[in-house]
Amino acid sequence: MSRIAYVNGRFVPHAHAEVHVEDRGYQFADGVYEVVLVQNGVMVDEIPHLDRLDRSLKELRIDPPMGRGALRAQMRELVRLNRIRTGLVYMQVTRGVAKRDHPFPKDARPSLVMTAKRIAMPSNDVVENGVKVITIRDIRWERCDIKTVALLPNVLGKQQARENGAYEAWQVDGDGNVTEGTSTNAWIVTQDGELLTRQASNDILNGITRLSILKLADRQGLKFVERPFSVEEAKQAREAFISSATSFVTPVTQIDDSVIGNGKAGTLSTGLRDSYLAYAAGEGATA
Ligand code: PDD
Repeated sequence: MSRIAYVNGRFVPHAHAEVHVEDRGYQFADGVYEVVLVQNGVMVDEIPHLDRLDRSLKELRIDPPMGRGALRAQMRELVRLNRIRTGLVYMQVTRGVAKRDHPFPKDARPSLVMTAKRIAMPSNDVVENGVKVITIRDIRWERCDIKTVALLPNVLGKQQARENGAYEAWQVDGDGNVTEGTSTNAWIVTQDGELLTRQASNDILNGITRLSILKLADRQGLKFVERPFSVEEAKQAREAFISSATSFVTPVTQIDDSVIGNGKAGTLSTGLRDSYLAYAAGEGATA
């Protein structure tokens, strides 16, 4: 079946989904995006994702391309047209098309494009044995809380991870503390069994999956703290994992050359992964 994309009000074959060469997203990375998980044909945490999209747009003073109701209808139509059961919706809003000049254009209309694709659930190997992450310097700007399409440091970091046989790269700030992965949030479980993830600030993207996991951890009465943790602390952790709309909760069993725990997915990570998947199929799907 051929894929269908959404481009500024029209559903078009993916192969013909095009924007203008002077779209400011293309020339200046002047735009924002969201990635929403689709499980059983239904979007997960749709409302929090749309709230974050609104926030990103507001921070950059880009007008929303349409009202929320209309946007939700278009997202549903895209999922339906592509017959997605397990997959994701990618949505991107830019400041629009204008003659290239740095200041905001006076009369550009924001561009909205959306694509949808199927994804496979992570393999049993990944779920049981976890993945490796490397640590790299965080060379990004001071507004990592905005989900902008300006992702060059993230792209370079992820590529470095791949070239080192790793799944993800954890970015490290000037104080030696982990900020987050290049497309995921970072978590550890200390030897005392405390769940740790960095607090939301301008230093990280406040992941929607992160927020759902914190909600689940709270409900389960797990001990958790939101604070920065160092690379050393992470290497001595009992467990580690990453979270995102596309990786859910994925256990981390190696950080650089250090094996975490016994090299297998830890019980707390596995438990949270199961709870998150149950949440995604139930409560999270009704939002
Ligand atoms: N990335 N941190 C960064 C830098 C991210 O790019 C993402 C998401 C996350 C996790 O956020 P969420 O739980 O809302 O997916 C954290 C998406 C999936 C991407 O760029 O493909």
